Order: sequence, then C-alpha cells, then structure tokens
Amino acid sequence: MKILSTEGLRKFFPIKAGVFLQVVGYVRAMQSVTMEISKGETIGIVGESGCGKSTLGRTIVKIYEPTGGRIIYHDDKGNEYDITKGLARNVRSKFRRDVQMIFQNPFDSLDPRMTVRDIIKEPIEAHNLLSKDEIDDYVGELLMKVGMYPEYAQRYPHEFSGGQRQRIAIARSISVSPRLIICDEPTSALDVSVQSQIINLLQELRDEIKMSYIFISHNLDVVHHMSDRIMVMYLGNVVETAGAKELFDYPAHPYTKALMASIPNWDPQERKLQNIKLEGEPPSPINPPPGCPFHPRCPYKMDICSKEMPDSFQVSESHSAACWLHEREDVVGQSG
Ligand SMILES: Nc1ncnc2c1ncn2[C@@H]1O[C@H](COP(=O)(O)OP(=O)(O)OP(=O)(O)O)[C@@H](O)[C@H]1O
Ligand SMILES: [Mg+2]
Repeated sequence: MKILSTEGLRKFFPIKAGVFLQVVGYVRAMQSVTMEISKGETIGIVGESGCGKSTLGRTIVKIYEPTGGRIIYHDDKGNEYDITKGLARNVRSKFRRDVQMIFQNPFDSLDPRMTVRDIIKEPIEAHNLLSKDEIDDYVGELLMKVGMYPEYAQRYPHEFSGGQRQRIAIARSISVSPRLIICDEPTSALDVSVQSQIINLLQELRDEIKMSYIFISHNLDVVHHMSDRIMVMYLGNVVETAGAKELFDYPAHPYTKALMASIPNWDPQERKLQNIKLEGEPPSPINPPPGCPFHPRCPYKMDICSKEMPDSFQVSESHSAACWLHEREDVVGQSG
C-alpha cells in the first residue's frame, strides 16, 4: 500500500541581490525527484553534502513550497491527494499527522522553554487525539518506549544529552502514530557511541509500529543496514535507485561506484568493480553543467554525456540508473 509518491519534484531557491533584492539566479537544490514509498518500507537517501537530500525531505513535509512537480499523499483508505494543491482542512490535518520528520540536530529542534511533557504532547493536542487526563500517562508511555523514564517529562531539553534529546524528538514524532517518518541525518550530530543506539531504537519502533521511513544519511553503512531500497542523489537529481543489497552488490552508476569506493574496508576486488575515485567537488547547483550532472567528474564520460541528460534507464527489475552507459540492455552486466 502506497503512502507517498512524488513526480518530478523540484525546488529552486531564488538568489536575491542589489538594493531591490532582485532575483539574479537560482540554487537548483532539487531538479527532479520521482519516487514512491509504501507501507512498512524504508527508503535510504544518500549523496554528498549539498545534493538536495534535506531539501527533498523538507519539501515533502511542506516546510518548503515546491517549485514544480507533485507530491501525492495516499491515505489509509486508498484515496490520493495532490498535496501541492490547496486541500480540505481534514485532509491536510491527516497528512500532517501521517508524515512526521526528525531533524539532524536535536539541539535546535526542541524548544528550550518547553518541558519534555509539553514538547511531546503538543502534536497530540493539535490533533485532538486524547483527553487531558489521558495525555500524561501517554507521554510517560512514549518516554518508556524510547528508553527514558516517565519522570523526565517535567524536565527541560537542556538537561539532556544529544542522544536523549533525539529520543525525545522521536517520542514526539511517534506520538501521533504516523505512517511515515522522514529521518534527516538523525544521528550525525551525535557522539559515535550513541549513534547505533538511536539507529536500533528507530529500527525497533519501525518493526513495532509498522512505520515507513525515508532515511537520509551520508553514512552508507547505516543506510545499507536500515533500508529496503536506496536512492542515490547527485546535484539535485536521482542518479540510481535499487534494492539495498542490489545497489551494494551491483552499483550501476559511476557516481554510486565512486561513493562505495570511499567506504573504508570496501573491497573492489571482491565485488569485481573498478575502484573509481571521486575527485574534486560537485559542481555548483547555481550553475549546473549541461547533460549528465556527473559528467565533469566521470571517468566513463562519452560525447553525449555533456550534451543530454540521461533518462532513468532500467538496469534490472526495480533497479534504475540515470547514466548513458545503461541506455541499451546489452551494456547491462558490465558492472556486475
Ligand atoms: N533555504 C535555502 N536557501 C537557499 N539555498 C538553500 C537552502 N537550503 C538549501 N539550499 C542549497 O540547496 C542545495 C541542497 O541543500 P541540501 O541542504 O538539501 O543538501 P543536503 O544533501 O541535505 O546536504 P547535507 O548532506 O550537507 O545535509 C545546497 O546547495 C544548499 O546550499
Ligand atoms: Mg542535509
């Protein structure tokens, strides 16, 4: 059962300059993202800093207005709504409840003036889910669910470590029983020692509550561990999508191969892949190169690559790569 899909989703940020703040250009943070996520599924999103991962997450939850494309929300009765359009209030509220987001930095994302209790109960009250007498018990239950004591409800965020604050943020996000949580680098601001505890907690909750995750990270190991499917982004575009195992065993796009080659302990010999080195920085999203966005750094660059943007070619069932090397079926397999 589908929960959410996007079609050609795009987000450009205007660059303003001069006394009259005229628009002089755009940061093309997200060029075109088409994806879908179903019940219970975790999709990992990977790619270098600045490739548009957070922009995708934030556009889906409507922190940002999309510049183009559509976001389709599928409710639990199978109805479809284009949430980029104006919506009836009840649908908007249902969407807000169904799709939650956890941010990278739990030091910014929790209001320092609110108690833990108020932080967690805010969405429950906003959606009118419980009576006043029931809320306190429920907050206590949620705190236990995320591995904290119910008594912590009276304290303030500054009394807790980063890992504990992220647990509070998780308790808040699951309080309304969402169907999908977008986790934007939920552990990268935390000490290495607590990162795996938060990952384990997210995994346990997913299995228990049967939620879906869009899991954003540039830690490939973590994404591999968490995800059913993985989407690789480069300069605002999706360059490859495949099942997690398939992507790691048979990466098709040269950029994905380069990303994998950067993983410590990765053994290119074992996977019969060339060890592609990723050199230089990605180009600026203000002035992206024509054709394939990766061509200036790609060791397999052909004439067409600097001229035309490749379509997303099917490499095998449910595995696609936006790379001219995979235009024809007979090229498939070279990488494997
Ligand atoms: N609010 C904004 N205004 C202008 N430009 C923005 C804004 N948010 C992001 N950008 C730009 O859009 C591009 C994509 O940014 P985004 O934060 O989505 O990348 P990311 O993949 O999440 O990177 P990271 O791994 O560092 O978190 C970057 O060039 C960034 O500078
Ligand atoms: Mg980000």
